[in-house]
Amino acid sequence: KRLILIGPPGSGKGTQSPIIKDEYCLCHLATGDMLRAAVAAKTPLGIKAKEAMDKGELVSDDLVVGIIDEALKKPSCQKGFILDGFPRTVVQAEKLDVMLQSRGTKVDKVLNFAIDDAILEERITGRWIHPASGRSYHTKFAPPKAPGIDDVTGEPLIQRKDDTAAVLKSRLEAFHRQTEPVIDYYAKKGNVVNLPAEKPPQAVTAEVKKVLS
Ligand code: AP5
Ligand code: ZN
Repeated sequence: KRLILIGPPGSGKGTQSPIIKDEYCLCHLATGDMLRAAVAAKTPLGIKAKEAMDKGELVSDDLVVGIIDEALKKPSCQKGFILDGFPRTVVQAEKLDVMLQSRGTKVDKVLNFAIDDAILEERITGRWIHPASGRSYHTKFAPPKAPGIDDVTGEPLIQRKDDTAAVLKSRLEAFHRQTEPVIDYYAKKGNVVNLPAEKPPQAVTAEVKKVLS
């Protein structure tokens, strides 16, 4: 399966991805996670991406297209993939089409995490993540067994620098202006499925499995 997950910040893309990935043996490519790792490691890519990310704006199409082009070559991605947070502009979607065509494949389904903006601030400001694995928790909706500690590794959890109410505003603005047109782009091709992303995590998982079965 070759899947794209689209939805605003906090809609649950990163929460559902590991579950879908394990169920169908896919690779999980999250451009946000990859960019945050590059920022933390202060690589040339990270240095270029940091300013836009801190402001809640999109980084340039060329940078993220380059990351995905490279990542799709991984052996673990040959059976199928989940793209989480990519493509986020129509230009990225067009470049992805060309990339996949040259490999003789195409996107199977686009899962649209449909949710009202009003719910997202509470989700974003309560989120804690384990940076090494990308696992995310929520103080109210998905608390770790011990506060501030990753369930699996026992390592400390952190909050993302862009997970403030103020930066969320810019991220939502970028989503509506630049990413919603991507949903229309795929809707015209007829492969968009809308998910009720405001439901509890297990209910969303059940919907996803129904759609993919
Ligand atoms: P990115 O990391 O992709 O962030 P985002 O799109 O803003 O999405 P989030 O990770 O915030 O949301 P999510 O849907 O994964 O939510 P989660 O499942 O964790 O991008 C960050 C930045 O990188 C961008 O701003 C941009 O600068 C740059 N970037 C990345 N990709 C780019 C691209 N392609 N082009 C250009 N720039 C790019 O859930 C959130 C919280 O809610 C968690 O605490 C979770 O536990 C909880 N939760 C999840 N589901 C539920 C539920 N059903 N009910 C209750 N709580 C829930
Ligand atoms: Zn995410």
